[in-house]
Amino acid sequence: MFESAEKIIAGNWKMNLLPGEGLLLVNELVNNLEVQKTKVILAPPFPYLSELSKKLKSKPGFYLAAQNCHHKSSGAFTGEVAPQMLKAMGVEYVILGHSEQRSLFGESDEWIAKKIQNALIAGLNVIYCCGETLDDRDAGKQFDRVRSQVQTAFNKFPSDRLDQVVIAYEPVWAIGTGKTASPEQANEMHAHIRDLLAAQFGKNAAQTVPILYGGSVKSGNAPDLLSCPDIDGALVGGASLVADEFIEIVRSAEKL
Ligand code: 13P
Repeated sequence: MFESAEKIIAGNWKMNLLPGEGLLLVNELVNNLEVQKTKVILAPPFPYLSELSKKLKSKPGFYLAAQNCHHKSSGAFTGEVAPQMLKAMGVEYVILGHSEQRSLFGESDEWIAKKIQNALIAGLNVIYCCGETLDDRDAGKQFDRVRSQVQTAFNKFPSDRLDQVVIAYEPVWAIGTGKTASPEQANEMHAHIRDLLAAQFGKNAAQTVPILYGGSVKSGNAPDLLSCPDIDGALVGGASLVADEFIEIVRSAEKL
């Protein structure tokens, strides 16, 4: 685990909320949450980053993430956003390798690895998502799938940049489905991911990388998931759009 007392709760808004709704949500969070030992990361859609950056700057424990970035710093890439632009706007994290980007837009592990490299160069922290499909799990191949994702993503990864990495294990079958991995299933995959990191970077370095669980996390299941030894936090989708739910999830992390 990274720092035993610290958890990360990240809210991935995906392509949801109109500007007024996003503003209302972030005001609710900022006004009702005080965190001592939890990092709260909000990942709104790109157009809201600038406004949220101003709002979160003076709020202790709150950080801003983008949901994606390109692997180049500039150029003729219509519709894309460079990590250098995000960094300049006050963004601190970027989510890469989300299963929706993989499945809907055909992102390969090699492509994601390039994005990771440029995000690091830009000085962003990376929330790297991995996770198996239901077919993988039914075939007993979940550990192989995640191993191949993690090994490809971190193949050429500089070990002195490991402090810029967060990993999110998000089993595809649990995303937006209401089916959550059991704490045992999640924890055993997190331990597997930590073993993979240990094999490449050494045991001590592997302990410092936070590994979040994502997939139908709600206030009701968060306490059990978050109390697992290898689960360092949560990447929350749907429940991060509802102020009371998200606040409750953060509070359950604070109580641990
Ligand atoms: P849900 O919490 O809606 O299942 O989404 C999880 C997710 O994809 C977060 O990145």
